[in-house]
Amino acid sequence: MTHPLPVGHHRPRRLRTSPRVRRLVSETRVHASDLVLPLFVKEGLDAPRPISSMPGVVQHTEATLADAVRDAARAGVGGVMLFGIPAERDATGTQADAEDGILQRGIRVAVEAAREHAGGGPVVMADTCLDEFTDHGHCGVLTTGRDGAIVVDNDATLDRYASMAVAQARAGTDVVAPSGMMDGHVGVIREALDAAGFDDVGILAYSAKYASAFYGPFREAVDSALQGDRRTYQMDAGNAREGLREADLDLAEGADMVMVKPAGSYLDVLAAVAEMSSVPVAAYQVSGEYAMIEAAAANGWIDRRAAVTESVLGIKRAGADVILTYWATELAGWLDEND
Ligand code: PBG
Repeated sequence: MTHPLPVGHHRPRRLRTSPRVRRLVSETRVHASDLVLPLFVKEGLDAPRPISSMPGVVQHTEATLADAVRDAARAGVGGVMLFGIPAERDATGTQADAEDGILQRGIRVAVEAAREHAGGGPVVMADTCLDEFTDHGHCGVLTTGRDGAIVVDNDATLDRYASMAVAQARAGTDVVAPSGMMDGHVGVIREALDAAGFDDVGILAYSAKYASAFYGPFREAVDSALQGDRRTYQMDAGNAREGLREADLDLAEGADMVMVKPAGSYLDVLAAVAEMSSVPVAAYQVSGEYAMIEAAAANGWIDRRAAVTESVLGIKRAGADVILTYWATELAGWLDEND
């Protein structure tokens, strides 16, 4: 091997010699304000209920939801993402857009708790999807397809999403987050919000959302009724180009932010979307990503804090401006704002 210059001219290790130098040259920093905490609120609970596959995460009552939002606000977390679990489910998800539906109640509670904080606290966002509200667990209303199979009816579902988004806006959400992967969902929601006078309510579109095994623990988190899978609407894991097309369409339909989900196994898609997007890009570190690190740490196989920090840093480095993570509040508490 030949060296074009004496070895001493190329010593990258020089920039790693001390914490001071490493801090100076750090390329990527995660801030509390980048983070969004997903929260579950369940109707009819009188005490928070632990989710066994997500140690440390619970289904909240309305009262403990408020506490969780206050904790997130104090830690400087940038946003919260709310999911509601209703007491009653039916074929069309009636509770999803009911004025006193659990998600609308949760939004009111979260907004009030957030606004107690100086500066208004975290941005309140709500999941705009039917799967928690339908008795079959699918993200839309069902119909019979041409070959007799039961399928999700895209355009009938859009009407439900539009109504749901308006109900969420009336309850005070800052942002709605359509996560059902229906064609045209962003445009229909934008029109409905504007027509109802909510042109200041933003849309965070789950744009490149893959049919993923990593949503496993979430099914427990929302008491999901789903049989089968979501492969006729969520994307195939192998398709990157298709993720860009989905992001493109959502941008054209007026998305204020686009999302890639899950995060860890789709960092290439995230980097590509970050490259082409004209709006901020979010990534969702999902329930299974959380559960894997928690399980390994519980067994003493991994350094929990280091693994959590590295996993979120990697998502930021890949191009995410906004990161949804169940560790948001805890992680925000670890971040040194002087870094
Ligand atoms: C759909 C939705 C899901 C998640 C967020 N929104 C479940 C799904 O698509 O099957 C998963 C989040 C996670 O796993 O943490 N409402």
